[in-house]
Amino acid sequence: MAKAANPVEKKTERAEQRCVNAACGARFGLGERIYVCAKCGETLEIDCHLVRPNDPSAVRERWAARKANPKLPSDASGVWRFLDMLPFDDDAPFVTLFEGNTPLFHAPRSAKYCGLAGLRLKHQGYNPTGSFKDTGMAAAITQAVISGARTAVCASTGNTAASLAAYAARAEFQAAILLPRGQVSAAKLAQSLDYGALVLEIDGNFDDCMRLIQELGDDPSIYVANSINPFRIEGQKTVAFELMEQCAWQVPDHVVVPGGNMGNSTALGKGFQELLDMGLIRRLPKLSVIQAEGAAPVARLFANLTREQRAGEAELPEKLAIVENPKTLATAIKIGAPVSWKKALRAVVRSRGQVIAVSEQEIADAKAMIGRDSIGCEPASATTVAGIKKLAAAGHIQPGEDVVAVLTGHALKDPDYMSNYHRGTLAIDAAGKDSAAPKPIEGAFQNAPERVAATKSAILASLKQRR
Ligand code: F0G
Repeated sequence: MAKAANPVEKKTERAEQRCVNAACGARFGLGERIYVCAKCGETLEIDCHLVRPNDPSAVRERWAARKANPKLPSDASGVWRFLDMLPFDDDAPFVTLFEGNTPLFHAPRSAKYCGLAGLRLKHQGYNPTGSFKDTGMAAAITQAVISGARTAVCASTGNTAASLAAYAARAEFQAAILLPRGQVSAAKLAQSLDYGALVLEIDGNFDDCMRLIQELGDDPSIYVANSINPFRIEGQKTVAFELMEQCAWQVPDHVVVPGGNMGNSTALGKGFQELLDMGLIRRLPKLSVIQAEGAAPVARLFANLTREQRAGEAELPEKLAIVENPKTLATAIKIGAPVSWKKALRAVVRSRGQVIAVSEQEIADAKAMIGRDSIGCEPASATTVAGIKKLAAAGHIQPGEDVVAVLTGHALKDPDYMSNYHRGTLAIDAAGKDSAAPKPIEGAFQNAPERVAATKSAILASLKQRR
């Protein structure tokens, strides 16, 4: 922060990759194609060396003007119009599918369900490939082009894969995707196939795929597009900027996100912190992360933190006990060894937020409630509303507070889950797979289709019964 600005100096010469381990503190140039610290192996983040503006309102106005009156193709992107905050120069080869610019909905039924006066849902499922990954992928693939790599790879529970496949195709890059076989929704897998990526199905879970990706990252021809790549985080942090614009720069009391590999929570935390450092907001919203009970290593760790650690007054743990066989029907977040947990936990603690877990039943009912608000989302996204209900019941969120949940994926990403819930056939077995036995999920808001005779009177009778 606050290095003197030299107007002729390129931003990319000023910005650096830095190790998040304070005891190490190693720094690397942006052009170095590494994904973890070359000295200690810890994750990296980008220090943009942002310069605090004399007049923050001029910055806000510039961003708003680019949206209202785009002069360049990149101005129409909800990532690239915030270029001032990103480690790219004005003449970068911007890759874009016009990501971002997603809606912020009022969700009155979900608010009532959570015991709140109001609740807003920022829907990142309205991105080009239907998930929040697109904002990060625009930045990562642009950097991949700059780096001269030819093949971009990722491990994925489905959404990163679809996003990488689309952005790589746009940049004429080869894309290869590692997926845990049989554990990815058919809709997400079909997207990757359609965008022309090489899809490699692995006998293992997401964490196994992620381990392979970290090994592959050593090969000079490979560009890793998972959120361990700090450029992904740079793109994804722009959701914080866009959200603040939509909130007329009034900081919400709480922002709540799902947690899987913890890239999204890391990115939101970084985005809000940079707005604070730049004088564009005066305080941080409390950032809370919600995991599924069967895949909740960080929620478990958080539950065991001391009061001092939660208040940021004592060192946070160095080790995370991973979940060996994560289980959840919210397959997007079926992750037991999240790579970005340290960065995310640090952001949560800094903002005085929480990390908690919710059950399969709670996720399923919250998802249906979001549907009743005519919004809809994929199961992983619904952890937010389930978590907000729980945080409100525990007194961490007050009924009149301003709360925003970030929905991460579109409802049509996982139609089987949705259909099974409403037909009463959603169930989780001991291995965490969709199955007819033994633990059915009772749909409190179940809405099964009705078989009806092909006559006007039968249809009218059905309608009357439901009124
Ligand atoms: N919601 C959805 C819909 C996701 O696809 C993911 C992650 C998350 C939440 C969790 O976000 O990992 O940043 O904490 N999906 C990744 C993937 C793992 O491969 O698509 P996170």
